Amino acid sequence: MQMQSEQALPQGAENRLAFLSLVESDMQEVERVLTGTLREDNPLVQSVADYLLGASGKRLRPAMVILAGQFGTHRRGLTALAAAVEMIHMATLVHDDIIDHALVRRGQPAVHVRFNEQVAVLSGDFLFARAFQLFSDSGDLRVVRAAADVVHTMCTGEIAQNLDQGRVASEEGYLQRIYAKTAAFLETACRIGALGAGASPEVGDTLAAYGYALGMAFQIVDDLLDWVADPERLGKSVGEDLQEGIFTLPVIYALNNPLSRDALLAVLGAEPGPGTTDQVRTILQSSGAIDYALEKAGDYIKEALERVAALPAGAARTALESLARFVLDRDY
Ligand code: IPE
Ligand code: IPE
Ligand code: MG
Ligand code: MG
Repeated sequence: MQMQSEQALPQGAENRLAFLSLVESDMQEVERVLTGTLREDNPLVQSVADYLLGASGKRLRPAMVILAGQFGTHRRGLTALAAAVEMIHMATLVHDDIIDHALVRRGQPAVHVRFNEQVAVLSGDFLFARAFQLFSDSGDLRVVRAAADVVHTMCTGEIAQNLDQGRVASEEGYLQRIYAKTAAFLETACRIGALGAGASPEVGDTLAAYGYALGMAFQIVDDLLDWVADPERLGKSVGEDLQEGIFTLPVIYALNNPLSRDALLAVLGAEPGPGTTDQVRTILQSSGAIDYALEKAGDYIKEALERVAALPAGAARTALESLARFVLDRDY
């Protein structure tokens, strides 16, 4: 990751990925929209908003809106749509951390930890509402509908995951789940960028298909990082999915593999202890389950790259290609 060299960096820019330099000025505007939109008279709400804005994350989804918008005919209003997309993402993370009992987010205590669960539920709702105000300000009902549809899809995905807790999904079930919780949103971020910029329906479909494939890879890699990442760098805890009863791709693979199945079942069937996560990780590594999931993510990235190949060549397409490679290689 390259650092920007300016003295006074705009909020969020210090973490910006190098290949997003093409859209740097738009991303700075996104930060301004976020700060302006999350201003509130109520001091409690304002302190939560300030807290959330104090740790920015990768800003991948708003960047995707802006990048997709480069394939349209104009850029009016794109940054507001991008900010609204990030606000939806922030809302889902605030709520997700309550559901997952996650203590750390973006390198700082999660909102429900820093404040409390009630505040976290309400501020997530606040973010959703603010996002939909911005979407409706666009005056484009297709955008509002796409945003509402994807929030609906994410809710059903999270509900399904919750109901499946402690149950081993098939690989097919896993792929459906990660589509609902993550890929649908990245697909929609691209779709909204294309709609907002007046891109042709064909270009919108291509960008959405790119976002879909990228999103599938993104969640597979996120699930892998839960096993192999450095929590400091990742900005959130690791080793928690299984503890929460969420079976991700490497575990599903290892349970379906006759060579690792019995060993893994023995560890999972025993009383959980401090060494359980390490034992499972060792089985996932030695059985090829980690490599299998990485390969699967690589297949989706290949698909994403094939999709963008249909777009006009240029800096925006190159940035989408770099983004796809980042998703596969990322360690945070
Ligand atoms: C985290 O998304 C939630 C998932 C879909 C895995 P990101 O990894 O993009 O989170 P931030 O925005 O950078 O914090
Ligand atoms: C992604 O799921 C969150 C949503 C799509 C709501 P995870 O639970 O895997 O995300 P992290 O690991 O907490 O960021
Ligand atoms: Mg989570
Ligand atoms: Mg995760």
